[in-house]
Amino acid sequence: MAGFDDPAFYGDRWAAVYDEHHRQMNPGPAVEFPAGLAGDGRVLELAIGTGRVALPLAGRGITVEGVDASAAMVERLRAQPGGDSIPVTLGDMAQVPVSGRFGLVYLVCSTLFGLLSQARPAECLASVARVLEPGGMFVIECFVPDLARFDHDQRVQARTVTEEAAIIEVSRHDRVQQRVNTQMITLDGQGMPLRPVAIRSSWPGELDLMAGQAGLQLAERYAGWDRRPFMSASDGHVFVYQRA
Ligand SMILES: C[S@@+](CC[C@H](N)C(=O)[O-])C[C@H]1O[C@@H](n2cnc3c(N)ncnc32)[C@H](O)[C@@H]1O
Repeated sequence: MAGFDDPAFYGDRWAAVYDEHHRQMNPGPAVEFPAGLAGDGRVLELAIGTGRVALPLAGRGITVEGVDASAAMVERLRAQPGGDSIPVTLGDMAQVPVSGRFGLVYLVCSTLFGLLSQARPAECLASVARVLEPGGMFVIECFVPDLARFDHDQRVQARTVTEEAAIIEVSRHDRVQQRVNTQMITLDGQGMPLRPVAIRSSWPGELDLMAGQAGLQLAERYAGWDRRPFMSASDGHVFVYQRA
């Protein structure tokens, strides 16, 4: 697999700037939610990245492990205090390449949508079901697709403009593939680094169907980590699937 289809592609292209770009995102609520469900069992974060969520969770005494496809992202995790003590398997989260069972698996930041065909998230859900203990839970945070973001299936957005630089996001949407290819472009007078992202988004109903086929049942769904109700206008959701 190459380019967007390579599981390591996103992380390898973003690792150097990932923490800086996500500095404003408070991990607190995303830590609190799995912390409340973890109990004493093993917990697994798919796409653990630089440990933005896993490190504070481990800091609360919870036994967290991780999977990530990008060695460059995991190197950043290792460089942080406590980052050396979290076991991480390098590999594709669609296959969940770990041994043993977990009471809780979680996947944040809409990263499930980084699996770029319908078959890939379906494979991921089936793989998670395989590593969950009976009654174990899979917590996923995703956005709800919003087609109104696009004008004739394209969008250009000024993300940041300062005295020294501008960050512009350029996207194209493919309605049939449910896919968006984006470049985040930094203009700072020194160069024009490109940060590519591709996603294939799913509506909640498609995810529930895939989960059901994997033997996972929807146990809870909220509009956010604070458990506010999920409604028609909600732009994101946190849902909990449970293995029978
Ligand atoms: C948006 S980051 C999220 C990182 C972290 N969970 C956080 O909340 O900051 C996405 C992560 O997913 C990883 N990733 C993307 N596709 C993957 C795949 N197929 N298998 C495993 N990891 C993947 C990337 O390497 C990157 O570390």
